[in-house]
Amino acid sequence: MRLRNIKGAQDIISKSEYYVSNPIEYKGNFKKLFKNNHDIEIEVGMGKGNFIINKALANPNINYIGIEKYPTVLLSAFKKLDNLKLNNLKIICIDANEIDEIFDKEISKIYLNFSDPWPKKRHTNRRLTSPIFLDKYSKIFKDDCIIEMKTDNKNLFEYSLVSFSQKDYIFEEVKLDLYSNLNEDNIQTEYEKKFVNLGLPIYKLKVIRKISKK
Ligand SMILES: C[S@@+](CC[C@H](N)C(=O)[O-])C[C@H]1O[C@@H](n2cnc3c(N)ncnc32)[C@H](O)[C@@H]1O
Repeated sequence: MRLRNIKGAQDIISKSEYYVSNPIEYKGNFKKLFKNNHDIEIEVGMGKGNFIINKALANPNINYIGIEKYPTVLLSAFKKLDNLKLNNLKIICIDANEIDEIFDKEISKIYLNFSDPWPKKRHTNRRLTSPIFLDKYSKIFKDDCIIEMKTDNKNLFEYSLVSFSQKDYIFEEVKLDLYSNLNEDNIQTEYEKKFVNLGLPIYKLKVIRKISKK
């Protein structure tokens, strides 16, 4: 994503009630932030926020946390939130590399929407479905590991199929063209809208790794 460097972006987002400036303080205890015991779902690489904001609006009994690396990108999300009052949404600005330093066994589901594909081989480890990231995610799930992913990128999709299966994930949903039979509850992301308008197929995966309870 090409970014304009907007001066003071960090200052602007820091003033929002949705922004969590000190996420590490809540590690293992994010329910305290939401003041309830509802499930917590996160979107990694939330971009301009259409998906996570509409998820939070549609599901008041689930808590959502959006994660984004760049404050400049988040400005658009905070603008959308201006006239809303959502008690079940928080936003943090970190690199997903740090995700297991921020959360501990408390997340119910992860959404990866149109993640950067990092096509070069030497950047494989930056893909959000690389084994390195899957290992980090496994530390933050409360129970079963559930990940939903959408992408327009066939190579990233195929790479992720292999990556998930090597980590013993089971495929609950595999769609090669999401829009050929679209579920009513699908929430479009900004990137998704762009690719759908271009007539490109959207790939979707829902994977689960069950944690055995003894
Ligand atoms: C291609 S955009 C997709 C944005 C949004 N999910 C959508 O579908 O419209 C990828 C987003 O992920 C963010 N991102 C990429 N790598 C990240 C990382 N390691 N940690 C946090 N955010 C990341 C980028 O800054 C960008 O906003």
